[in-house]
Amino acid sequence: MTAPADLRASTPRGGAVARGAKTAFDVKSVRGDFPILHQAVFGRPLVYLDNAATAQKPRAVIDALTGYYARDNANIHRGLHQLSERATAAYEETRSKVRRFLNAALDREIVFVRGTTEAINLVAQSYGRTHLGPGDEVLITTMEHHSNIVPWQILCGEKGARLRVAPIGDDGELLLDEFEALLGPRTRLLSVVHVSNALGTINPVKRLVEMAHRRNIPVLLDGAQAAPHLKVDVRDLDCDFYALSGHKLFGPTGIGVLYGRERLLEAMPPWQGGGDMIASVSFEKTTYNRLPYRFEAGTPHIAGVIGLGAALDYLESIDRDGCIAHEDDVLAYATRTIAALPRVRLVGTARRKTGILSFVVDGVHPHDIGTILDRQGIAIRAGHHCTQPLMDRFGVPATARASFALYNTREEVDALAAGVRRVLEVFRA
Ligand code: ALA
Repeated sequence: MTAPADLRASTPRGGAVARGAKTAFDVKSVRGDFPILHQAVFGRPLVYLDNAATAQKPRAVIDALTGYYARDNANIHRGLHQLSERATAAYEETRSKVRRFLNAALDREIVFVRGTTEAINLVAQSYGRTHLGPGDEVLITTMEHHSNIVPWQILCGEKGARLRVAPIGDDGELLLDEFEALLGPRTRLLSVVHVSNALGTINPVKRLVEMAHRRNIPVLLDGAQAAPHLKVDVRDLDCDFYALSGHKLFGPTGIGVLYGRERLLEAMPPWQGGGDMIASVSFEKTTYNRLPYRFEAGTPHIAGVIGLGAALDYLESIDRDGCIAHEDDVLAYATRTIAALPRVRLVGTARRKTGILSFVVDGVHPHDIGTILDRQGIAIRAGHHCTQPLMDRFGVPATARASFALYNTREEVDALAAGVRRVLEVFRA
């Protein structure tokens, strides 16, 4: 069963439609695909640099959402009627799109969840509860988001297990010798971020997976910030779990993905009970559904999944290599430009970075930076970025963070620099 043609993503202007017939990446054309970018804020053209918090949506995604609700809204996997069949087809088609996007082997290794946070909680509650006991260890790193800290703290607290934390250097790179030394006989899982949301560091995750696998330790990668910027290939990385969020990938909020290696998912118990995750139920005994439905209890975010499918179609329609080169250029330009300003210090200067520029300005609280920039139409995030232990590591309460997406430009970096100069004027040394 295939989805009706009008359910599919509408043609983006940023690239050619047919697979394999992409045009060269053109940022001007891509910007035309994102309606929200074309507005004024406080009388200035919007400069949206808060993409790590959530990315904007191309018209194709917006149309897929409204199209679904206007034409096909129905529950999935249940109905015998036409609308339900169409909704089910579009939902399951997206699973295949995600499988291709991640280069996973099987559709049943793709579980839809609410986002990266829920994906990590799923692994903690299902895999973790089954495999951890007193004295066992989970290894994470100093640069984890709270969503890759707290679920393990809860689990370790329940099980009498221990959370170990691999340190990082002043540049925001993982210290690999120290990291490897922490992979011990009691380590039951390594859970590590692929790209840091606060520093932009790209971790050498393939190497980390190799180190862990040499000791038979499975690995979860938090890909929330990596998936929008890098080509992710779970088979090449050889990771056991990969988590991502749709809304950072130009899709809707409230939808995300857990990739899990079939062998591991197959052996994991459900973590939520309800409709759709069962094969049969009696008051005496319930048998569970096959993968991946065993982990998708209840009516899912159907529109979200369909919108995510449209976002993946959109990404597939553009020249991804050209896009990555463009993003690298904008980040390198931003790094040079902002670092050259007086009283500015970058937080996170790893050799391999993507998407993120965190900085502090001597004598100015990051919230004031954010507010002054906002009045100039520039949206950034200021705060601890849900990485309080990382902020402690750098001895700052917060940073100002500009985070970039494929539609950002050097001109927007110039606007950011002018905005920071204004901050320096308001808060003279
Ligand atoms: N985790 C998201 C961020 O870094 C919300 O802003």
